[in-house]
Amino acid sequence: MKFLKLFLLLFIVQTQAQQGGMWVPSLLKGMNESEMKNLGMKISAEDIYSVNKSSLKDAVPQFNGGCTSEVISPKGLILTNHHCGFDAIQNQSSVEKDYLTNGFWAYNMKEELPNKDLEVTFIVSINDVTKEILEGVNALTLETEKQKKIQENISKLNLSFKKEAWQENRIRSFFEGNQYILFVIESFKDVRLVGAPPSSIGKFGSDTDNWVWPRHTGDFSLFRIYADKNNRPAEYSEDNVPYTPKHFLPISLDGIKENDFTMVLGFPGRTQEYLPSFAVAQIQNELNPAKIEIRDAALKVQDGFMRKDNAIKIQYASKYAGVANYWKKWIGETMGLKKSNAVAKKQKEEVIFKENVAKAGKQNEYGTLLSDFEKNYVDIKDYALARDYFTEVFLRNTELLSTAYKIYQLEQVFNAKGEQAFNDRKNNLLSSLKDFYKDFNPTVDEKVFEKLVDLYVKKSPKQFLANDLININATSLSSDIYKNSKLVTYDQLTNLLTGDAKSVIANLNNDKGYLFVKQAADQYLKQVLPKFDEINLKNASLQRTYMKAQLELNKKARIFPDANSTLRVTYGKVKGYEPKDATLYMTTTYLDGVMEKYVPGDYEFDVPKKLVDLYNAKDYGSYGENGKMPVCFIGTNHTTGGNSGSPAIDAKGNLIGLNFDRVWEGTMSDINYDPAICRNIMVDARYVLFIIDKFAGAKNLIDEMKLVHPKKK
Ligand code: ARG
Ligand code: GLU
Repeated sequence: MKFLKLFLLLFIVQTQAQQGGMWVPSLLKGMNESEMKNLGMKISAEDIYSVNKSSLKDAVPQFNGGCTSEVISPKGLILTNHHCGFDAIQNQSSVEKDYLTNGFWAYNMKEELPNKDLEVTFIVSINDVTKEILEGVNALTLETEKQKKIQENISKLNLSFKKEAWQENRIRSFFEGNQYILFVIESFKDVRLVGAPPSSIGKFGSDTDNWVWPRHTGDFSLFRIYADKNNRPAEYSEDNVPYTPKHFLPISLDGIKENDFTMVLGFPGRTQEYLPSFAVAQIQNELNPAKIEIRDAALKVQDGFMRKDNAIKIQYASKYAGVANYWKKWIGETMGLKKSNAVAKKQKEEVIFKENVAKAGKQNEYGTLLSDFEKNYVDIKDYALARDYFTEVFLRNTELLSTAYKIYQLEQVFNAKGEQAFNDRKNNLLSSLKDFYKDFNPTVDEKVFEKLVDLYVKKSPKQFLANDLININATSLSSDIYKNSKLVTYDQLTNLLTGDAKSVIANLNNDKGYLFVKQAADQYLKQVLPKFDEINLKNASLQRTYMKAQLELNKKARIFPDANSTLRVTYGKVKGYEPKDATLYMTTTYLDGVMEKYVPGDYEFDVPKKLVDLYNAKDYGSYGENGKMPVCFIGTNHTTGGNSGSPAIDAKGNLIGLNFDRVWEGTMSDINYDPAICRNIMVDARYVLFIIDKFAGAKNLIDEMKLVHPKKK
C-alpha cells in the first residue's frame, strides 16, 4: 500500500513536471514530442511545424500585434477573442449601429466590414541565426559595444536573408540573448469583421469575473482575411478575395473531459521565469504592492462615480477595465508567489546552482553572479520604486497629469529640435487630445489626483522628490489645479497651445498644473531614470550570463526561453484544481452557470433574452452535451498575455477551444509556473458554434467550417 502511494506520488510529480513551458515550434522534436505523446498527443512535431508541408503553424497568425487568432475555414475565416476584436468592433459602432451592445453578424461576404489598421501575421519559417548575429561579439569587452555589434549584424542579416518580396524578416533574441531566431513573416492588411456576439455574451462577467474561475464568458469574435488575386497580402481593395490558407483547423464537436491532452499555439508576450530570488522578492514585497495600492485608490474613486452616474459609467468603462486588468492580475500574482513560496524555491535552486558551478570548476566565470545580482537588486530598489510611482501616478492613472506630461515632452522637443518639430508634434497632439477630452471628467480626475498625489508624496522614496513637493497638501493642491489650470478643458488647452513655440512655452510655464508635472518630471528624468537604466542594463547582462550558465550546467533540464511575442507551443491537460483548502474546481462550466450569475439590467451580468430562451428550450443542436451546454474549460497550458485568442487544440490537431485568460490563483505563472495551480481558461469551441448557429443564425459561417467527430470511430 505504502509503495503504491509512493509510486502514485512519483507518477503525479512526473506528469506534473512534464508540463509548463512555452516552446519554439521548430524545436519540438525529441524531448517535447515525447512528452506530448506521453500526455496523449496523436500527431507529430512535424504536423505542428514543418518547412516542407502545411502544418498547424500555418493556421495560427498573430492578431494585430498583441493577440493570437486561428484560421477555421478554407476561405480565410479567423477566430479570436472578443476583447482582441474590441477596438475594431467599437470603431464600427455608432449610436444607431451599436455592435458592442447588440453584436454584429455578416450573413454573406458583402456584409463583412473592412477595418483600418488591422493586420494578421503568419509565420512562414523559423531559422536559428545565433551564429550570424553573435559573430564578432565575444571579442568585444564593453557591453555597449557588444550591443552595437549585435544591432549591426541584425540589420545586415535582415537585408540579406532570403525571402519573397511580400514577406519580411524579423529577428528576435531568445534566452536573454544566448540565441537568435529569424522569422520570415507575412502580414495581411485587409482583415474584415465577420461576427461578434453582444458584450453581454462576449464580455459576460466583465471585471468582476476577469482572471477568475469558474468563468462563463463567450469571449470570441470572427474576422476574415482577404488577399489579392494571387493569394498574397494586399492593402484593402474591393477586388481582394478571401484568403486561401495553407492550413485551417477542423473543429471538434466531441468536447473534452478531464485529463484530455491539450495544446495551445500562440504569441505569448512576456514572462520572467529565470529571475534570481532577489528580484522575485522585490516584485512580491515592494513593487507589486506599491502599484496595487495606487491603482486601488484610482479605481475606488472611478467606481464610486460610475455607480452613481450613468454618463460617467459610459465615459470610464473602457478606461476602468484597462486599469483594473493588471491591478487584479498583480494582486493574484502576489498572492500566488507567496502561496507557492516562490522566493524560497528560487533560493533553493540558487544553492544547487552554486554547487553545480563549483563542481564544474566554473567559479571564474559564474562564481560571483548571484552576489552581483544581490548587490544590484539592493542598489536598484529605490530607483525601481520611484520609477513605478512616477509611471503609475503621473503617466498611467491621473489623466490630467499624463496629458500634462505629453505637453512637457512637447517643450522638450522644442528644446532639442526646434520650432518645426514642435509644431508637427503639437498638431498630432491636438488631434489625439480632442478624442481624449470627450471622455475626460475633471470632477472624477480631481479626486483621483488628490488620492494618488498624496500617495506619491507620502510613499515614493523621499530622496528623489523635488524639494517643493515634500510637504505639499494634495487636497489643496488638487482643488487649486482643477480650478485654475488651463489643462482642465480642451478649449482652454487649445488656446494655451496657440501661437509660436516661445509664447506657448511661456504660457505653459504660467500654468499651475503644467508646472507641477514639469517639476516632478524634471526630477524623475534627472535623478531616477538614468540610474535605473544603468543598473538595469547591468542586470540584463547578468541575466544573460545566468541563463548561459543554466543552459550549460543543466543540460537535461526543461529550460524554455521566456516569452517574447513569438510563436510558441504550450501543452498540458484539461484539469481542475484546488484553489484553497477543501475546495475543488471542476474543469468545465455550463450555460446553467450563466443563468445562475444572470442579473437583469446589470452592466456585467445581464444576458440577452434570446440566450435565456434557448436555455429554457434546451435548444443546443449538436453542440450540447447530455442536455447541457458547455461554456468554458481550464487546462494546464502555460500561457500569458498575448495568448488571447490562441487555439486550444486536441490530440489530433482539431480546435476544441479558444484561450482568453488565466485563473487568479495561478497568475504568478509569468514568474513561477506551478502545474498544481496554474490554469489557462478557454471558451469551449462548441459554445462558439452554438452562439454563431443557434443564437445568431449565421449558418453561412457554420457551413464553411469543417466540423469533426475525432472521438467517434
Ligand atoms: N484578463 C484577460 C487578459 O488580459 C482579459 C482582459 C479583458 N477583459 C476585461 N474584463 N478587462 O488579459
Ligand atoms: N487576456 C490575456 C490577453 O489578452 C490572456 C490572459 C493571460 O494573461 O494569460 O492576452
